[in-house]
Amino acid sequence: MSTVPLDLETDTVVLPPPRLPDGASFELLLKRRRSTRGFLPDALTLPSLSALLWAAFGINRIERGGRTAPSAHDWQEIEVFAVLKEGSYRYDPRAHRLLLVKAEDLRALTGTQDFAASAPLNLIYVADRARMTGVRPNEFEFLAGADAGCIAQNVYLAGAALDLAVVVRALIDRRALAAALGLAPTQRITLAQSVGLAAHGT
Ligand SMILES: Cc1cc2nc3c(=O)[nH]c(=O)nc-3n(C[C@H](O)[C@H](O)[C@H](O)COP(=O)(O)O)c2cc1C
Repeated sequence: MSTVPLDLETDTVVLPPPRLPDGASFELLLKRRRSTRGFLPDALTLPSLSALLWAAFGINRIERGGRTAPSAHDWQEIEVFAVLKEGSYRYDPRAHRLLLVKAEDLRALTGTQDFAASAPLNLIYVADRARMTGVRPNEFEFLAGADAGCIAQNVYLAGAALDLAVVVRALIDRRALAAALGLAPTQRITLAQSVGLAAHGT
């Protein structure tokens, strides 16, 4: 059964309000944070997907559009894509919804490690240079990578709170994935991150 109810008229998935369990202490979440590379095939629930995307780079200060992760110069240049079995979507943080990019299973293209093809969720962090006003050429990759790293740590901690397995990944065929997602020349894939229920023994 699909967990992402796509509105076929608008190609949009409206996410429920993001909620993270508040039982675990911050110390416990830091103790639980780890990389896991074995996933059960089970799809994530819509509430989990919602919480992960908000934690990744959602809006936490509505008045000024502040985000859950910092970004250099407040450029907010990272777009978060969610690559699921049902299709690939772009996260729209303002409306907290997913917008369909491609109704195909592109998971195998999100990484060069086998588990990427079967991980229920692969998040892709894409930096848009066009938003990085005045960035020096030799700082683009560094700052985009640092900003994506902050997002990735949020997802690790949200995964720890939700009892989900997580691994951040740089091993990506960026050219192939960018073509499949139809990215613009100003957009650069920085990191990917796989999320799902942990397979036993991983
Ligand atoms: C920038 C970055 C890139 C990474 N790329 C990969 C990757 O492509 N594949 C992978 O399996 N793990 C990747 N990792 C995860 C590391 O291997 C992992 O964090 C490290 O082994 C320490 O394990 P821990 O996260 O459980 O503490 C990456 C981590 C970072 C921070």
